[in-house]
Amino acid sequence: MGRCGLLTDSWNNLSLSLNLRSTFHEHEHAIMNFWQNNIDKPIIGLSPMDGVTDASFRFITAKHGGPDVMFTEFVNVEAAFFAPHTLIKDLTYSEIERPVVAQIYGHTPEMFYQVAHIVCELGFDGLDINMGCPAKKVAAKGSGAALILNPELARTIIRTAGQGIRHWFEGQTLCDLKMNPELIQQIRISNRLRTGLETPPRRRLIPVSVKTRLGYDQIVVEEWIQTLLEEKPSVISLHGRTLKQMYRGNADWEAIARAVDLAKNSGTLILGNGDLQDMKDVYRRVRETNVDGVLLGRSALGNPWIFRSKDQVKQTLRSNGDVSIHHAPISLEERFRVILEHGNHFEKHWGIPKFLGMRKHLAWYCRAFRGAAELRSQMVRLNNVSEVVECLRNYVASLALQPVERGSSADSSAPAGL
Ligand SMILES: Cc1cc2nc3c(=O)[nH]c(=O)nc-3n(C[C@H](O)[C@H](O)[C@H](O)COP(=O)(O)O)c2cc1C
Repeated sequence: MGRCGLLTDSWNNLSLSLNLRSTFHEHEHAIMNFWQNNIDKPIIGLSPMDGVTDASFRFITAKHGGPDVMFTEFVNVEAAFFAPHTLIKDLTYSEIERPVVAQIYGHTPEMFYQVAHIVCELGFDGLDINMGCPAKKVAAKGSGAALILNPELARTIIRTAGQGIRHWFEGQTLCDLKMNPELIQQIRISNRLRTGLETPPRRRLIPVSVKTRLGYDQIVVEEWIQTLLEEKPSVISLHGRTLKQMYRGNADWEAIARAVDLAKNSGTLILGNGDLQDMKDVYRRVRETNVDGVLLGRSALGNPWIFRSKDQVKQTLRSNGDVSIHHAPISLEERFRVILEHGNHFEKHWGIPKFLGMRKHLAWYCRAFRGAAELRSQMVRLNNVSEVVECLRNYVASLALQPVERGSSADSSAPAGL
């Protein structure tokens, strides 16, 4: 349905043509809802992390860990159209990541409507709205976790994003919305580079989800979740802290359990999030709270392998058995191979001048083996992959000179081939 030229580009006219009272739920039958259909419960996913879960980290985590779902870093809808090149780079992904969800944030419904079209046109499996970020630069503008204080706006945003997805599904094009031709071209190139095909993604209704917190300055999980449930998002991911807490204290899993009770039979899944260190924690929290799934954030830093034992959690839960979750140790050889693979991907995707952004990952990989602290301090000064290779070579050479300590993790796994 090529509507190019028929629609005007102003939000006022658009909103007249949209029935904003109808919810996304009315079209639920047509939604390609991977959350409900394609993943064994509990869902065990990688939490979105700004500055961390970029295309390179997600590629590595998908390849070496395999979470059930991944999210991009969040993308600001108000800034989306200023720099098409940056927007597309932030929303680049590879097929191995599927199901992959684009996370967006902001406070302007019309921009959610527009960016929803871009997310669909790029072939994402879902669209997630951030209503949990506590950062000043986000919340001070009324976005992220500040939306908890503005439930009506939060509801409009969910509805409008859903409308964007629906109108795209019905055939509305980016050209109809008079988007920048350069942006449209970049999207085409991105799709072609990813799939090798000239054809655009098949039009489908992708699910909308929300990631949020327990409250703003106090826990208001009951009212807040009830508000969100009225818009029937496919998933609510709930970090068990308030905005005010930032990352202080412990995540409140009892409050998450109350959200699970509220959402029972609503059709919306609840994913719990906060302080999960390993798959034993996942097992325990799922049993205690009955969440439909969990997201892991910080425990995946420098540790894409953490997701490898996710199927053991599911099996153990199914058999209602004792915890028998075993995480095989990662050899130095594998660790170093993945460091180089990650570094190469990063350098290719972002370019050498941006390699600074890789340094924190290099440091996170260097934990819990002999000489890790010293290696870490070197890693955070490196500027490209060649220097990483050199640094790891020196480390391996120094290992050969050191007497092997009994029980050291480096004993049996000194990497070859560097
Ligand atoms: C560096 C960093 C960046 C984050 N960026 C985002 C983000 O872009 N979107 C989001 O929804 N949450 C973001 N979060 C929150 C995490 O997704 C997650 O909710 C939080 O870290 C708690 O989970 P954890 O204890 O497993 O890390 C970020 C967290 C960290 C540490």
